[in-house]
Amino acid sequence: MSFDPVGRQQAVQERLLAAKRVLEGAGIADAGLEVEMLFAAAAGISRKQIVAGYDSDLSPQQAEVFQNWLQRRCDGEPVAYLEGWQGFYGLEFEVNRHVLIPRADSECLVDSALEFIAPTAVACIADLGTGSGCLLQATLSQRPNCRGIAVDKSADALRTARRNAAHLGLTDRIRFVQASWLESLANNCLHAILCNPPYVHPSEPVGPGVADFEPTMALFTPPEDAYSEYRQVLKRATDVLKTGGRLFFEVGFGRAQDVVGLSEEAGLDLIRVVKDLAGVERLVELQRN
Ligand SMILES: C[S@@+](CC[C@H](N)C(=O)[O-])C[C@H]1O[C@@H](n2cnc3c(N)ncnc32)[C@H](O)[C@@H]1O
Repeated sequence: MSFDPVGRQQAVQERLLAAKRVLEGAGIADAGLEVEMLFAAAAGISRKQIVAGYDSDLSPQQAEVFQNWLQRRCDGEPVAYLEGWQGFYGLEFEVNRHVLIPRADSECLVDSALEFIAPTAVACIADLGTGSGCLLQATLSQRPNCRGIAVDKSADALRTARRNAAHLGLTDRIRFVQASWLESLANNCLHAILCNPPYVHPSEPVGPGVADFEPTMALFTPPEDAYSEYRQVLKRATDVLKTGGRLFFEVGFGRAQDVVGLSEEAGLDLIRVVKDLAGVERLVELQRN
């Protein structure tokens, strides 16, 4: 190893610049930021260390991983799948191609659930379509006396959610259930339901890399009915919720009022519609009275 810190820092900068040019050439907008994230993940350091002038270039093995990730990123694979982690609600969740990458837009479901569930409450919360487990696990991490039921149709998603629960020390408070929506849950057992179902109609455009890399089962509705998953959840929502219990539904752009209508038909009362950080109606909060 060289004892010339300036020369070493320069080698890192040159590697970062060359990589940035590669990503820019592939049309990636935040090339500089993404290159730093990937370099940091390959080196096993934080991005802050790079910004602070990190001066240790990648080992040959790390450089091979970094080059592989750059190539895959140029092919459109999201950074979160390359790194294997995504931040959500201040926690880190393992992600892979079996689970949706948690979106910042979904954090309003956790905020709203936490407003409803008092800090010392003893409550049971179900997360329907748990994926990485982000919604339930972020909520439980703030509510130490609550327990949860994580439901997903995908066994691979549940395995990922279990690993995340272990990592966050939540395993003992979560029951993992492979099932379709509420079909296997008992009547009158839940204080709250969190649900971010697939809501993208196959004809709708999605962001770069989404359709090619994220799981189809997590994203798309059947072509004949954009509300099919909501209807299936609503079939049993009033049975499984306790009186006064709430359902927190994430909804797609322009869909809130239709979901409110379907929910009211199913016997739930609207509490409110909440906008996400971008000002889009993102959450429908309902109550069983
Ligand atoms: C939009 S993703 C939400 C993932 C996670 N809750 C989040 O917010 O990031 C939808 C999830 O629902 C699951 N899913 C799809 N159909 C289902 C069904 N019929 N029953 C249970 N889960 C289902 C998918 O496997 C996927 O994990």
